[in-house]
Amino acid sequence: MAEKKIIDNFGRPHTYLRISLTDRCNLRCFYCMPEEGIELTEKENVMTLEEIISLTRTFRDLGVDTVRLTGGEPLVRKNFGYLVEELAKLGVTLKLTTNGIVLDKYLELFDKIGLRKINLSLDTLDKAKSVFITKRDYYDRIMQNLEKALELNMQIKLNVVLIKGVNDNEINDFIALTRNKNLAVKFIEFMPFKGNKWDWSKGVSQDEILKTIESKFGEIQTLKNPAHSTSQNFKVKDHEGSFGIVSTITKPFCDDCNRIRVTADGKMKNCLFANSETDLLTPMRAGQALDNIIVNAIKTKKYSRDGMDVKMDADHYEQNRSMISIGG
Ligand code: 5AD
Ligand code: SF4
Repeated sequence: MAEKKIIDNFGRPHTYLRISLTDRCNLRCFYCMPEEGIELTEKENVMTLEEIISLTRTFRDLGVDTVRLTGGEPLVRKNFGYLVEELAKLGVTLKLTTNGIVLDKYLELFDKIGLRKINLSLDTLDKAKSVFITKRDYYDRIMQNLEKALELNMQIKLNVVLIKGVNDNEINDFIALTRNKNLAVKFIEFMPFKGNKWDWSKGVSQDEILKTIESKFGEIQTLKNPAHSTSQNFKVKDHEGSFGIVSTITKPFCDDCNRIRVTADGKMKNCLFANSETDLLTPMRAGQALDNIIVNAIKTKKYSRDGMDVKMDADHYEQNRSMISIGG
């Protein structure tokens, strides 16, 4: 019998799993967390650490080689250190998306187990604005932790969700950061999720971003994108770092998508925008094997943006979860 793999109906092998460890977060970024808050998942419906480890093993045996830990904020999960050490033993490449508030607590451990690829959410370089966006005051701590991570030679990408009138005037400040620092800035087009009051007039497109950077820094070099990359990657000549743009809205990059998501309550999502989910936690707790469930679930994956190939449709995305409970 052929080895089982997670391949969708378009022939795309899925080798990259993003697991949300919790839907809790110590920040309240307005584009992620609905103003009225969310109903947090009850504890008994959240995967235990052992369940996360077991599920990761199952996915690994189905060909997954890369696992990104997300949230909410993954580092607020209790016993996170234990979890990450166990996951490292599974032989997959581990990556992390974090808001950086408690990153210092784990840097040494990450260094030891070889977790070096960290996406840090940082939408502004202005302290007052950071308080406005996140509704909390952790800016100084986050910036200190960024420096500590760079000192340890972590491979840092700064996630910047650009919103007109909020932080679009900082595009070139972020690019200036790449002059002498070996980091990548990832500008992300504002995306619609349940309750985040999305409207593309608030968004900043890839073309606009590139024009803004060119007007100040001159020629932009196009870098070769790694396979399955979700960003187009560039660099300003002579800058040490680079930058990328996640153009989900204006130039979707779904053609060679290899990503699967599992929410903190153990539901598999084929796509960030998928409204249908496959419950993995209930069958796992019932002692059922998950491999066929996963392999069949990927067959319902649509080609692009869960069927919103041409435009984002409110009737569709308002049925989705809010971003905080999907996991970045
Ligand atoms: N649009 C684009 N990116 C978002 N993120 C959260 N909400 C949105 C949104 N509405 C990204 C943030 C964070 C990651 C977890 O998800 O950049 O870094
Ligand atoms: Fe928390 Fe990240 Fe969402 Fe901000 S974007 S509220 S840091 S999960």
